[in-house]
Amino acid sequence: MAMVQKKNVEDLNVAGKKVIVRVDFNVPLDKTTNEITDDKRIKGALPTIKYLVENNAKVILVSHLGRPKNGPEAKFSMKPAADRLAELIGKPVVLASDVIGEDAKSKAAALKEGEILMLENVRFHKEETKNDPKFAAELASMADLYVNDAFGTAHRAHASTAGLANFLPSASGYLIQKELDFIGGALANPKRPFVAILGGSKVSDKIGVISNLIDKADTIIIGGGMAYTFAAAKGASIGTSLCEPDKFDLANELVAKAEAKGVKLLLPVDTVCADAFAEDANSQVVESGKIPDGWMGLDIGPKSIELFSAEIANAKTIIWNGPAGVFEFDKFATGTRALAKAIADSDAISIIGGGDSAAAIEKLGFAEKVSHISTGGGASLEFIEGKVLPGIDCLQDKEIGRTFAAGNWKMNCGCPDDAAKLINELKPLVKDATSTIALGVPFLAIPAALEAAAYSNIKIAAQNCHFEEKGAFTGEISPLWLAKMGVTYVIIGHSERREYFAETDETVNKKAKAALSYGLKPIICCGESLAQREANETFDWIKGQIIGAFKDIPAEKLCQITIAYEPIWAIGTGKTASDEQAQEVCAFIRGVIAELYCDKCAAAMTIQYGGSVNAKTAAGLFSQKDINGGLVGGASLKAEDFSIIALA
Ligand code: PGA
Repeated sequence: MAMVQKKNVEDLNVAGKKVIVRVDFNVPLDKTTNEITDDKRIKGALPTIKYLVENNAKVILVSHLGRPKNGPEAKFSMKPAADRLAELIGKPVVLASDVIGEDAKSKAAALKEGEILMLENVRFHKEETKNDPKFAAELASMADLYVNDAFGTAHRAHASTAGLANFLPSASGYLIQKELDFIGGALANPKRPFVAILGGSKVSDKIGVISNLIDKADTIIIGGGMAYTFAAAKGASIGTSLCEPDKFDLANELVAKAEAKGVKLLLPVDTVCADAFAEDANSQVVESGKIPDGWMGLDIGPKSIELFSAEIANAKTIIWNGPAGVFEFDKFATGTRALAKAIADSDAISIIGGGDSAAAIEKLGFAEKVSHISTGGGASLEFIEGKVLPGIDCLQDKEIGRTFAAGNWKMNCGCPDDAAKLINELKPLVKDATSTIALGVPFLAIPAALEAAAYSNIKIAAQNCHFEEKGAFTGEISPLWLAKMGVTYVIIGHSERREYFAETDETVNKKAKAALSYGLKPIICCGESLAQREANETFDWIKGQIIGAFKDIPAEKLCQITIAYEPIWAIGTGKTASDEQAQEVCAFIRGVIAELYCDKCAAAMTIQYGGSVNAKTAAGLFSQKDINGGLVGGASLKAEDFSIIALA
């Protein structure tokens, strides 16, 4: 599976630009002195900040720290982090007294090239965690470009971790880039054998991880507390060990799935068990599944260590997530230490998946000997699970030309049940797709569609919106509310809206601008009728539509916009334009964008073809030079057909 490459800070033209950088300066502070007790996270962001400073950017840093509940609180100020950064980087770091207030805005406006401003704790505003579009727009208004370098919060769709990318050209920093290279690289294209070592106490925490890795790894080693649930599920005696009886079926299913896929799934063959959960408990080694009553397993035994170490020694890629036993107690750290040592000794690409395992490898002194220790806890877990991380997904692609398959269900789906059903059918079919996928569902189906598509690579589009935020517009839908709900795209100026609802180039333009101002990505439609084609008016007509639609839209906003060329005579008629006809007009549209903006802007524009695209015609159309995908009506109502189109 290919991995989608995201833009990196080096792909942006940062000189003289104000760059807002989401960093993860959520550092631990001493409760009494308020001193930073571990500055690893600040150090982790230095490469990106240094790059920006050295390349004459005006740097605006934004982060959260702790969990402020009710607005600004001195104990959650970014001051200690800003001061430590100044020491580490050897330059002044100005701290604003607010986040989007007057102080922040005036300090941001006054920044000179190479200077650094830190905003106050972004979670002083409750809008941050709600990914409120107006709050994100305010933050964005201070900057020209957005860089996300906070991997630790990349699994959260907050205003500063994802929302900003709806308003500004965006890229990852070096820290996120490294996570993508290592974890993303291992999952997409591992050197084999690929061995995954999974531990930790609960199966329920790791279901997603195990199940995703069964599709990718050659060997899965299971240790830690969750191994006892696997053993008990097969009827073994586990004494008073950790156990989740409600996960027995699931454990057995995972074992069966591994077997069916030919993946080696190794469970411990022996166990160090104790008569109490304590450092000084009595202990003994027993065969797995033969733990005496009243005893609990707290570590893997010597034979398991030998078995697992041999697998590790053979590996070319290793991912480790979760300790093998209760390593906090020295007496029961032997298994975890032995696995850490085996990983350190191996010459494989070794990745430690954050959280407890990162703490373990550091505590045991092997941190220097592994290829990569992830800086995320929850984020790395979700990444390994194969979930889409909003903080990464939101960033611009490195290369354009990635297929964008958007469905337009029109009024053809029952709400809300059909929406959820169709999306649930589609999800597994497209989960490894590298194309961008969106579904334009009826308004009433939006909540169900958003829920069904959560964490997947399917985005939700609205089929229309009004250009006003609120007011006396009976029956209309506010773009603000679509954005607040989590809708990503909005189809604007579809020919059916132009024909039946009197949409004009002027309303299309107003709607596109409104959508952009709330962080919605417009898919702007254009296209000629049959009579116009026959009268040779196609090009003039389309040029007029594009000029009208893009009036007063600045070039920096183009990265948020898609154009859909939809010849009216091909919509819903089963009469697809030929590859050549579609290519000819899409190339023409690109030319119009080049005239209106610049060649580079035109080259980076996503242009779809729409009109009776189906599973048979998609591949031919999408392989045309100027066609980057399709807006698909009828064929998007069948999961299988649409998956073929999305994978075309
Ligand atoms: P169709 O619709 O694929 O059913 O022709 C396309 C559209 O209206 O977007």
